[in-house]
Formats: sequence, C-alpha cells, structure tokens
Amino acid sequence: MCGIVGAVGIQNPREYAVEGLKMLEYRGYDSAGVGFLDGRIKLYKDVGSPSHLYDILPAKINSNVIIGHTRWATHGKPSKENSHPHISMYKKIALVHNGVIENFVELREFLTTRGYCFYSQTDTEVIANLLEYFYLESKDMLKAMVLLKEKLEGSYALAIVNEDYPDRLFMLKKASPLLVGKGKGFNLIASDASPMVNYTNEFVELDDFDYGYISKEEIVVFNKENKKVDKKTIIKSTESFSHDLKGYPHYMLKEIEEIDEVVKRLVSTYYQDDKYLFDKELIKDLKESDHIIFLGCGTSYHASLVGGRLFENFNNISTTKYIASEWAFHPTFPGEKPFVVLISQSGETADLIHCLKIIQEKDVHTLLITNTAGSTLSRGVTYTLLLHAGVEVSVASTKAYAAQVALLALLSGAIDDNKKVVDDLKDTIKVIEYIKNNFKERIQKIADVIKEHQNVFYLGRSFDYFLSLEASLKLKEISYIHSEAIPGGELKHGPIALISQGLPVIVFITDPLTASSMRGNIEEVKSRGANVFVISTKELSKESDSLVVDNYAYYLSGVAISSVAFYLAYYVSLKKGYNVDKPRNLAKSVTVE
Ligand code: G6P
Repeated sequence: MCGIVGAVGIQNPREYAVEGLKMLEYRGYDSAGVGFLDGRIKLYKDVGSPSHLYDILPAKINSNVIIGHTRWATHGKPSKENSHPHISMYKKIALVHNGVIENFVELREFLTTRGYCFYSQTDTEVIANLLEYFYLESKDMLKAMVLLKEKLEGSYALAIVNEDYPDRLFMLKKASPLLVGKGKGFNLIASDASPMVNYTNEFVELDDFDYGYISKEEIVVFNKENKKVDKKTIIKSTESFSHDLKGYPHYMLKEIEEIDEVVKRLVSTYYQDDKYLFDKELIKDLKESDHIIFLGCGTSYHASLVGGRLFENFNNISTTKYIASEWAFHPTFPGEKPFVVLISQSGETADLIHCLKIIQEKDVHTLLITNTAGSTLSRGVTYTLLLHAGVEVSVASTKAYAAQVALLALLSGAIDDNKKVVDDLKDTIKVIEYIKNNFKERIQKIADVIKEHQNVFYLGRSFDYFLSLEASLKLKEISYIHSEAIPGGELKHGPIALISQGLPVIVFITDPLTASSMRGNIEEVKSRGANVFVISTKELSKESDSLVVDNYAYYLSGVAISSVAFYLAYYVSLKKGYNVDKPRNLAKSVTVE
C-alpha cells in the first residue's frame, strides 16, 4: 500500500511533497514522512496524515532532492519509527517504499550477521540497509540497485536518496506503480499522476524491474535486462485529478450527489444516436464466450454480483462471481471459451493484479471496468471500459459503485442490442435526483436511530440483496457499526436468531417478483421486536414504509437507490463524529494482498 512522491530540482520541494502526499492519501494515511538532502540526509516523519507534516517540517527546505511517503501499515504498527522514509544504518541511504517484501526476514538475518541493526519492524528498513550494503561494496549506486533487485522478493516501488548523489533521486519498481513526471529544469516521481499534474502533463511509465534515476535534466531508465532504455513520454489529461470540494463539507457527500451526473455521462458516452458505442470486438468476444468470470473486491465485488446476474438473466450467458482474493488461490476457468471481467475502481488492487497474472498464462480474454485510465490493471487486460465517474476521493466508494452497476447494465444491453436498458437507466436519474432533493432529512432521522446501535441488518432479495451487501459494507466502513446483509429467504436459516428488541433492520423492496416474500420477512423480524425501515417503490409500497421512490426497473437498484444507503452511512458516521472520508484502518486503493 502507501503512496510515494519524489522530486529533483523543483522550486518548492516542501509544498510539492506535502501537497502531493495529500493527493495520495487514498493509498493510506496512518503516518507520513519526508526526507531530503541538506548536506546530510534529513528525515521528518510521524504518525498522522500528510497534512501534519506542515507542523514538523522546516518552513523552507534547501534541497535539490526530496522524497515523501504516506503509509498504510503492513509490517509494524503505525508509529514514528515505522514511518517512512527509512534510513540505512550508516546513514548513506534513505528511501520510501510502496509494496511488501516477502523475504524480508531472511534478508534481515543476512544483514544482521553482517553487523546491521534495525530500529523498526518494517520490511522497508531491510531494503535501505541491503542497498547500502551493496553500495558500500560496489561504490556504484546503479550496480547496487541491480544487486538489490536480484535479492528482493515481493512488490516494491522505491524512491531513494543517497548522500553521495545530491543531484539524483534513484528509483526501482516491481509490481507497485511508479510514474515519472517530466518537467523543465526539474523531474518528479509519484505513485500516480495526481501529485504531479500541477507541474506537468508529460509522464513516463516504468515497467516492472525498471530502475534508474532522475536529475534536474535527465530521466535515466534501465530495464529488466539492465539495458538503458528510451522510454516514451505519454501525455495525460490533468483535469480529472481535481480534489476541489466544491463547497461540500466532505468528499463522500459531494460524490454521492454526483451520482445522477455520472449516470447521465455514462449513458451518453456509451450510447448515442440509438446505438451502443462499445468496441465491436469486445461485444463479439462476450457473445462468443460460454462463461464469464467476474472478479472484484469490496464494493467492486458487489457490483460484479449485479453484472453476473444481468448477463445470466438477460443474455443467457453462464457466469461465476468471485471475490478476487478467493479466486486467486484456486482459479477455475469453466466452459470451453471463458472470458474474465475484472472490476476495480482504482485499477490498482493487488488481489486483482494477482488474478490477472494467472489469467495471462491462459488464452483467455479480459475486460477491466475501472475509473482510472492508465492504471496497472488496464495495462494488462484485453479491453478497458472507463466509468468516467471523475476522481473519487472519499475512501468509501459511492459514485463509482453506481457507475459500475450502470455500465454493466449498458454492456448487458449492448450484447443483445436491448435498448430498453438505456430507457431504464434514464428513469433512474429522476429517482436519484428525487432522493437528493427530498430524502436527506428523513434519512438523517433514521441515522439518529441507527447511531445508537451496535448491530444493524439489511434485508433484500436478488438485486435488492446485492444492494444490501453494498449498503451494509458502507455502514460498517465508516460508522464502525457491525452490520450484515441477509437475503430475505436466508433469514430463517440462522440469522433470525440474532433479531432482538429494537434491532434496526433496513429493507429494500423494489422487485415485484420478490416483494410479497419480503413483506413476509418483515413480519418475521417485526414479531421478534425489530425496528424496521423499508425503502420501496411506489407500486410495491405500504403506508408504513420509510422512503418510497418512483417505480424503476427492478434490476437497477444499485443505480437508482444506492444513494439512500450511502446517505445513511454518511449521516451515521457524521453523527458519531467520525472522519467520514478517511475511516480508520482502511485505504481506498489496496495495493497489498
Ligand atoms: C478497498 C476499499 C474499498 C474498495 C476495494 C476495491 O478495500 O476500501 O472501498 O471497494 O478496495 O477497490 P477497487 O479499486 O479495486 O475497486
């Protein structure tokens, strides 16, 4: 996990590093640090988010070279000692690291027997010391980096300063992302483009095992075979990285309120002049496949459940839907001609990268559904479809989920040229707008009840169950309330034992086929004391329901009414006084397995 930045020759290194790290907080924010060369290596680091660095850094940094890091702890708890940068024992080298070193225990032993001492519990300190060990032997940083990459197992993106090279910032990467930003009289690196877009729109992507350095004037890269390579520059649009709150108190609220726009944009991107605009090869591939495997994590997995059901029900294609980390260790490829759909808002999730490596060994085509153009996953798949949801900053995903469901519906529509899907999606936009304009106060009243409880249940069937899963995840992520989603029909097979006096149960009823069974489930939990809140559509509503919306196509719950679930989680978290956008222990992009 973690985000890294680095710069050589930039005018205001302090601001670049701290503001850059703030842009990368989605990768972790339990501690942060900065290192630079001011005659000697200087490090400033502590627990807390990158903004806190302004309190501990000197007002002016006189250094040509700077590195910075925002952490999501893997090895060692969040503490000052475990924060990056890490410095080598003889203080020659300091570095920041994104990734996990799998053989760090062996490497630490190797170094301990050679007199090295360690002051943190991290795998990263081992890298700093091992690199110094090789550097002191070879007296040549590039040679030392070659020796280092031969020893390291696992994933790493590294930004490195060496006291003997005051004009260079060294870099090395495998499996974790690292991007170089090309400036005039300066050069930058970062985990993604967001910290650099205010400085440049020209970027160089590094491949696995690439290493080298940047100076003010140069970007020097060697490849896996240790040959110097001329990397081509790519131009990236800089608009999409704006972190402007636009007057909202939190990103989560802003992003929930953007859902209607996102759905409109998706429809107009993928459907124009009565025609679906998907790549014809992709549609052909999907039609010819006899089994589609959907893979995702967290929210994206919940979207995959919807996608799988749509492809089965509407396109008559058999599917399996897997949590990526489950599939990765026991992969199966059912059918004669399987096809894999990977869903990832960030396009950087390590569990999915693991899956993709397995798939790449087979002759199987892949589609990535993502919000992030040029992400690590998009570089390895056959096709990519963008969500065009705009940057999502809040750790809890909202508009990206609605966009994933909407895009999967459009894709399912395109396979059989079913234009009704487009009309159905357009109908949901009115429902989303209605919720935004009319329900927030009522949802806050429900939040007042929920916030007093330790446990909450969500109930639904079919598409409403898939939404329940997402609603439940959202609540637990940001309000730390234990919550479970249960398919209405499963209640009686165990979970009903947990229903007690006053327990809040939130129920979605939007599917005419399952509505009467759901009403039966409501009676079952009510008679055992549950406090039930029903969200229903007009045609299926009852007077006692908490929120009633206009009718819409039942299979689009994840688009039409997901905002109800998101607002509810938002208000509960807010009322409990938590950091809505940055919940504890989580990160938006999980780049470790
Ligand atoms: C993390 C986030 C979740 C997200 C999941 C998958 O766990 O906290 O909100 O759903 O990663 O992320 P992805 O970028 O692959 O959709």
